[in-house]
Amino acid sequence: MEMLLFRAFLAACALILLLVHAQEPGFISIDCGANSNYTDSQTGLYYVSDASFVETGISSSVALSYQSDSLEKPLWTLRSFPEGSKNCYHVKVTEHGRYLMRAYFFYGNYDEKVTPPKSFDLYLGVNLWDSVVLGDVSTSIFKEIIHVSPSNYIDVCLVNTGSGTPFISSLEFRPLRSTTYVTQSGSLMLYKRMNVQPTTNRTIRYPDDVFDRVWMAYNNPDWKQLSVVYIYDVDSNTDYKPPQIVLESAGTPKIASDPLQFSLSTPDSTSQLYVYMHFAEIEYLSENQSRRFNISLNGGLNGNFSSEPISPCYTCATTFHFPSVFIGGHCDILITKTEDSTLPPILNAVEFYLVKDFAQSETDQVDADAIKNIKSLYKIKDWQGDPCAPQEYLWDGLDCSFNGSNPPRIISLNLSSNGLTGEIPPHISNLTMIQHLDLSNNSLTGSVPEFLSQLPFLKTLNLSGNMLTGSVPVELTERSQKGSISLSVEGNPNLCASVSCGKKRKKKKVVVPVVASFASLFTLLAGLAIFWRLKM
Ligand SMILES: *[C@@H]1O[C@H](CO)[C@@H](O)[C@H](O)[C@H]1NC(C)=O
Ligand SMILES: *[C@@H]1O[C@H](CO)[C@@H](O)[C@H](O)[C@H]1NC(C)=O
Ligand SMILES: *[C@@H]1O[C@H](CO)[C@@H](O)[C@H](O)[C@H]1NC(C)=O
Repeated sequence: MEMLLFRAFLAACALILLLVHAQEPGFISIDCGANSNYTDSQTGLYYVSDASFVETGISSSVALSYQSDSLEKPLWTLRSFPEGSKNCYHVKVTEHGRYLMRAYFFYGNYDEKVTPPKSFDLYLGVNLWDSVVLGDVSTSIFKEIIHVSPSNYIDVCLVNTGSGTPFISSLEFRPLRSTTYVTQSGSLMLYKRMNVQPTTNRTIRYPDDVFDRVWMAYNNPDWKQLSVVYIYDVDSNTDYKPPQIVLESAGTPKIASDPLQFSLSTPDSTSQLYVYMHFAEIEYLSENQSRRFNISLNGGLNGNFSSEPISPCYTCATTFHFPSVFIGGHCDILITKTEDSTLPPILNAVEFYLVKDFAQSETDQVDADAIKNIKSLYKIKDWQGDPCAPQEYLWDGLDCSFNGSNPPRIISLNLSSNGLTGEIPPHISNLTMIQHLDLSNNSLTGSVPEFLSQLPFLKTLNLSGNMLTGSVPVELTERSQKGSISLSVEGNPNLCASVSCGKKRKKKKVVVPVVASFASLFTLLAGLAIFWRLKM
């Protein structure tokens, strides 16, 4: 009996391991506010608690009434950020990796105030990704973007814009093929992704979609549904790999001679749009049947574009996208059958993305590394994401210079009255553009380091009110006397600040004998004088 139980236990363990390993490589699924990791029963994906990705915020659960099977498990908990204007998740990813990133937001009355925040901003690193505008208590929304990460981490930040406490329910990263969703510039913000005239109204995602794209059912009143009759196994030979279930149905015009017409309004006339259309022949065509069509894009600044005829093959996927970005406020797509085609056009699925140009650069790497070292040294939790950017939310106590698209530089650091202990951090030596440094009214010990005198642009140095010892480096005192630096060192009882003690320390060997010989000369002269007077 015990043996049997043990075997059952082993089998269960193996199953769990299998589920864990069933995870697609590179998928990162973070359940914000969750206190443990689990495999989501709906998607089979392994979600991890957000504890190791974020330093701030408060974990909460949505109201009990929402915690049921009708709500995806990752949305049951969330993390809110009542403090600080900018709070960030720091996630390790593959450098230069192309990721589909998605953030979910579901309020669910977690704070029992029955009032979701009006809006807050979502940042990808130093750049605005989108504003999160919440509707009512029980509506979930998500933001999705396809982004190539320039470094081996991605910071996702929530910014309080004064319209309510920001929160986040889940955060997901899905690696994509580098050959797909390539843009001339910028990242791709999801606008619409549609499963056309579907056989099911349910939203499709992983495991149906290997990249976990979310496909919404779309029914056009002027179109009718075509769907597979025979057992169908799509060869997704395209890198886009649209899911089989999405390809198994398509829209076709109700009147066979009509084109499939599709209109989409973009946010404004400067919007840049990328369109991806997915096709797979659904009907088994006899020899005298054919389906061929052109795709054209009308209007917009790009003028008209018309594709070569497309003839989707049976049980295999074809992905079509326009060769360049479409710019304009209104996008009209016509899919028209060619003259020699016996069958009307079809469309199985379509995706629309808006280009998001990320122009702000991150803080200079050496500056950023130095200040992040200081942050971890003093465990300053309010310091989140990039130090200088976005400019409106730079770290408290910092000031930076911004010069066009160049990386911002740190020009001022003020850690006055922060309860700092230990020695003056050596990392400050790497803040080479710094002009103002205020470390006053702390409990710093040790000596005043020489490197402070080598910071070329330093204009203000306030070290007053600490417990520093030794003497102030001569160069600093000299710069202060010349007026090129404003130096404050008072209130350090064991620190010698006069030039002479700095000199005594540094140039002892040279100075002392000279002083001594002067002294002896003086004594000699005085002695001679006395002798001479006595003689008189
Ligand atoms: C540093 O901040 C304190 C207040 O916290 C302020 O009194 C002081 O003037 C600041 N120092 C500089 C150099 O701006
Ligand atoms: C010195 O710092 C403490 C906190 O560390 C603060 O309470 C006090 O007001 C500060 N004094 C001055 C003169 O800034
Ligand atoms: C200063 O920056 C260099 C280059 O990034 C680094 O190697 C060095 O360790 C840094 N020094 C300090 C004291 O942080």
